[in-house]
Amino acid sequence: MNSKEIRTHFLNFFKEKNHKIVPSAPMVIKDDPTLMFTNAGMNQFKEFFLGNSVSKHTRIADTQKCLRVSGKHNDLEEVGKDTYHHTMFEMLGNWSFGDYFKKEAIEWAWEFLTEVCKIDKKSLYVSVFEGSDDEDNLEMDQEAFNLWKAIVPEDRIILGNKKDNFWEMGDQGPCGPCSEIHVDIRSTDEKAKVSGASLVNQDHPLVVEIWNLVFMQYNRKANGNLENLPAKHVDTGMGFERLCMVLQGVKSNYDTDVFTPIIREIETITNSKYGKEEETDIAIRVIADHIRAVSFSIADGQLPSNTGAGYVIRRILRRAIRYGFTFLNTKQPFMYRLVNVLTETMGKAFPELKEQRQLIENVIKEEEHSFLNTLEHGLVLLDTIIKKNKGDAVDGRKAFELYDTYGFPIDLTALILSEKGLSLDEEEFNSAMQEQKDRSRSASEISKEDWVVLIDNAEQEFVGYDVLEANVKLVKYRKIISKKKGSNIS
Ligand code: ALA
Repeated sequence: MNSKEIRTHFLNFFKEKNHKIVPSAPMVIKDDPTLMFTNAGMNQFKEFFLGNSVSKHTRIADTQKCLRVSGKHNDLEEVGKDTYHHTMFEMLGNWSFGDYFKKEAIEWAWEFLTEVCKIDKKSLYVSVFEGSDDEDNLEMDQEAFNLWKAIVPEDRIILGNKKDNFWEMGDQGPCGPCSEIHVDIRSTDEKAKVSGASLVNQDHPLVVEIWNLVFMQYNRKANGNLENLPAKHVDTGMGFERLCMVLQGVKSNYDTDVFTPIIREIETITNSKYGKEEETDIAIRVIADHIRAVSFSIADGQLPSNTGAGYVIRRILRRAIRYGFTFLNTKQPFMYRLVNVLTETMGKAFPELKEQRQLIENVIKEEEHSFLNTLEHGLVLLDTIIKKNKGDAVDGRKAFELYDTYGFPIDLTALILSEKGLSLDEEEFNSAMQEQKDRSRSASEISKEDWVVLIDNAEQEFVGYDVLEANVKLVKYRKIISKKKGSNIS
């Protein structure tokens, strides 16, 4: 099955089980102060779980663009070094809002994998929450255990701790125990030597989690306490690229048809070869991954910038540019030339790529130009710093100079240092950054912002997924008082 067919099979399977198929929400989040980017398929349904609003459909399924580069779910460091983590990835998901619960979620997941996808049952393992005796004091998920026991031999059910089997959206928000499905794609020989069960959740590249079934029961409050949700829900998420890896019989997400066209294009543009040398391979994987994250973000309206979500995108792009520069010898902008093949590969499922293609190319090209202008000088300076450095940790103030003058994000400097077996003193970097902020604040004229509150403790409801127009009440507005000399404007 090619990746388009796999996506379609998943959506059709749940459509037949009376799920409404909805489009992916944007990857960049604008209306939730607890999240910068969509990190899971359930984000757009958060209010339904919390009981703050009611879904028109009690069963929904989709494929969701996710980005895991900050906060509780952050895979950036793994990307490129391994073959199955990504910054941006697609999450296939099905949801029940107060409708079906564990039984159907478990049985349908099994049916889809073994009957539709025809994955060998013997290569699958499942995990169940073992409970916790910490401050949350949670019970083992006996119900899920019993349901699985009716489907798989008991030695394929693994008990998992809170880290692996209790899923939380972030520091706050909906959460609950979960059951994961893992697949072992090692050779028969390897399987005979070491049992798959012992490799589950051990970062083995060929024994990986593919699907997570979360049984949403709680809300984690800002004070850390758990409270019961008004109803019980199902939230599942399957790694689309990993499923493609399994079904296409390859050993790396990057060898699926989701990535191979991009990798071939990188090889052509940079005159390199994938699969020959580890350093080159990592660089190619990083670039193939990051071009997706950056292009989808721009398509969703988030341009690279110096603050917030825009800075995260800029950092990802600069990371990729530097991998190309150092390991593939790219001295000219080249990433923007990958947008075409990305659009051909994914533009049907995500038409925003096609619609915004020109903008994406222009923005990336411009960013590449400006960073390449300083990258070389910055790398020379960093080399000098490294040569002069005594000990393993490098002065954070020097890293600040690289950031300030050459646009090296701190994590890029840290990455380059780690490649040379060195570390970075981030505390010093942060103090240098703070001092500069203080200096520029006192140097510039102060402008003060005041909120004028018209209605206290007003209730809010997000209705943007259902309607295009709505009557609203203004509850507060911001007054900017300019203290510029000679100005009296407010
Ligand atoms: N929300 C769950 C996850 O992201 C399904 O793993």
